[in-house]
Amino acid sequence: MAAAVLSICGLSLAACADAPAAQTHALGRGVNIGNILDAPYEGAWGLRLEAELFARAREAGFDTVRLPVRWSSHAEATSPYRIDEAFFRRVDFGIAEALRHGLNIVVDMHHYKQLDGDPPDPGEAMVDEAVVDERFVAMWAQIAERYRAMSVDKVFFELYNEPHGRLAAGKWNALLRKALATVRAATPGRFVVIGPADHNRAAALSGLSLPEDDRRIIVTVHLYEPYNFTHQGAPWIAGSSDWLHTRCCSNEQRGDVVRVLELAQQWARRHDRPMWVGEFGSYEAAEYDSRVEHARLVRQEIEARGFSWAYWDLATNFGIFDFQRHAWHSAIKNALLAD
Ligand code: BGC
Repeated sequence: MAAAVLSICGLSLAACADAPAAQTHALGRGVNIGNILDAPYEGAWGLRLEAELFARAREAGFDTVRLPVRWSSHAEATSPYRIDEAFFRRVDFGIAEALRHGLNIVVDMHHYKQLDGDPPDPGEAMVDEAVVDERFVAMWAQIAERYRAMSVDKVFFELYNEPHGRLAAGKWNALLRKALATVRAATPGRFVVIGPADHNRAAALSGLSLPEDDRRIIVTVHLYEPYNFTHQGAPWIAGSSDWLHTRCCSNEQRGDVVRVLELAQQWARRHDRPMWVGEFGSYEAAEYDSRVEHARLVRQEIEARGFSWAYWDLATNFGIFDFQRHAWHSAIKNALLAD
């Protein structure tokens, strides 16, 4: 998919950087390598970042991986907010493995709990409230500098996963400009992914304000409709055990998915921006056949609108690959990739 579109533009995405459709298609079909470097520490949620994960993503036929990273747990609490070198090397490893396997990689900042005003996870240190925002920008300065020499159309940055809470739209719009300007100072041509406040919901796109003259931005939304299906039994969502045995996908449920994507499509057209659905998927407690149907429905509706996507996720509790058994959940994988 990605290769076909790029060939229209020449040899690289940079050659057709101003065409939103080409930018979107460049990310193609993707998968999140989640719950690993975005855990409070690597391994805390079960998996470590293994080379096999990248090999499997490639073998399945994905074009892109998204790598969520909890930078804030590995940076100093005071200026200059230095990111720990050993942790940086883990991200270096992820990027190298992605590129070695011919995958694009989106390096994302995830779960800087204080930035959203959320309580920290157990064992996680808090920083002085007065420096939370400048620390965010300072971490981006270091990340952008470290990866400035990496191909601008293979290694993407995503400023922040699902801003919410303390990061209401107005505050997020101001902060994203500061972080983006910092990234641009080090790496002007890189593609940067940015989503709206309110957990990257498409309904919040109307409140998102981006620098008009920066055309190397890819806009992202997350889609977890129908929520009582996708998050049934998820232990971190209060009351979600009441949703157990919810199936998918009735006409009404299809309508919920389509409505979200129509909102995203209208916004993308109006603003002439490429759109990437950076997360969608369902929790493992849902009935398997419904998970397969949901994955196919959402993926087809996304592609029908010319957007690219990344499934949440590869190998943990929304996953499509069982790392312990080294085996695919084939029906979900095929629903995403078979046609
Ligand atoms: C979070 C995950 C969660 C997923 C689905 C992601 O953004 O990082 O922890 O499992 O959304 O809710």
